[in-house]
Amino acid sequence: MSSKPLPILPGATLGILGGGQLGRMFTLAARTMGYKVMVLDPDAASPAGQMADVHVQADYTDTDALKKLGECCAAITTEFENVPAASLIELANHCRVSPGAAAVAIAQDRSHEKTWLADNGFATAPFALVGSGGELEAALARTGTPALLKVSRFGYDGKGQARVDTLAEARAAFQAFGDQPCVLEGFVKLERELSVVLARSDTGECALFPVVENRHENGILDISIVPARVPDSLAQQARDMAQAVAGKLGYVGVMAVEFFVADGQLSINEMAPRPHNSGHYTLDACVTDQFEQQVRVLCGLPLGDPRLLSPVVMLNILGDRWQNGGPHWDALLAHPNIKLHLYGKQAARPGRKMGHCNVLDADLNAALRLAERMRNAL
Ligand SMILES: Nc1ncnc2c1ncn2[C@@H]1O[C@H](COP(=O)(O)OP(=O)(O)O)[C@@H](O)[C@H]1O
Ligand SMILES: [Mg+2]
Repeated sequence: MSSKPLPILPGATLGILGGGQLGRMFTLAARTMGYKVMVLDPDAASPAGQMADVHVQADYTDTDALKKLGECCAAITTEFENVPAASLIELANHCRVSPGAAAVAIAQDRSHEKTWLADNGFATAPFALVGSGGELEAALARTGTPALLKVSRFGYDGKGQARVDTLAEARAAFQAFGDQPCVLEGFVKLERELSVVLARSDTGECALFPVVENRHENGILDISIVPARVPDSLAQQARDMAQAVAGKLGYVGVMAVEFFVADGQLSINEMAPRPHNSGHYTLDACVTDQFEQQVRVLCGLPLGDPRLLSPVVMLNILGDRWQNGGPHWDALLAHPNIKLHLYGKQAARPGRKMGHCNVLDADLNAALRLAERMRNAL
């Protein structure tokens, strides 16, 4: 059982399951604060492994690797939702683990997630669970068309999703996904998408970052605008809903809740049991960023101040930019109010998140214009 008393202070070793960009930014935040970091990731060139004190290169279910982490770390967190719940449970026998396996298990499976949201009274798009092809007709009757068929497990950045307009298309999509459990969702006429990133401690203390307005391109986040350009009442409602979700989950850690806005009303799209791409603006625009907050919750420290210091627009930089000779960094770095973050990934595949930048300007519209210009200039 956990021997390290709370709070866990600098000098201690923290562990993280997953070595992608979120793990990398957690690692940087933790090391900045004087912690040592041990990353578990099977990839030899993982973005977080490059930054860690120790990179344990093994699978997330590897017993020896988990044992090593459990013995060396004072506390362990994750950077992605597909970590096997059993590994979190095993680690929790040795040290402090957040978020807990139960919350991760809900968020990593769309069917569980949607059912949990509906059971707890949170508005969602109309949906139906689809366990077999025979259930598609009734499911479509429930959602109407057009609809989106989404695989329950391992979908991300719009992958594992298909828009369907007819029963025949739904059957074809279900088959193409290999007959795995899916959720069918009514297609929402989106006015806007919002998200809220928050931290919740094990004493139930909550710190909410400012509400984000998100624009997606092909199912992948493209631009985040902060503060979101919505009425205060709607922003407050989003914050209240996000906090209620975290509270009902008994969540401990940093999490994100994604919202749809349609007809002026909010519904919850999904939640992520970790820091979130739409929270990367906090790195340069808030007193505390989402990764420092993750360190603080994990270590049982008081939460940092999530206050926004400047309007900001975050632009994702995808692998597509490398297609024609590589991004023009000079064009971007010429601007003193743009902060560049690259993740150290070797292969630049289209759609792969390679980095992002934050454009800071007292005038939000000017920041948005410059971000859009950079998108084209890169
Ligand atoms: N029911 C829906 N109606 C309209 N657009 C949707 C719907 N579901 C998803 N989308 C669009 O696709 C994006 C990605 O879908 P999401 O369910 O969040 O999957 P992912 O796990 O890939 O982020 C959303 O942010 C939104 O832009
Ligand atoms: Mg999403």
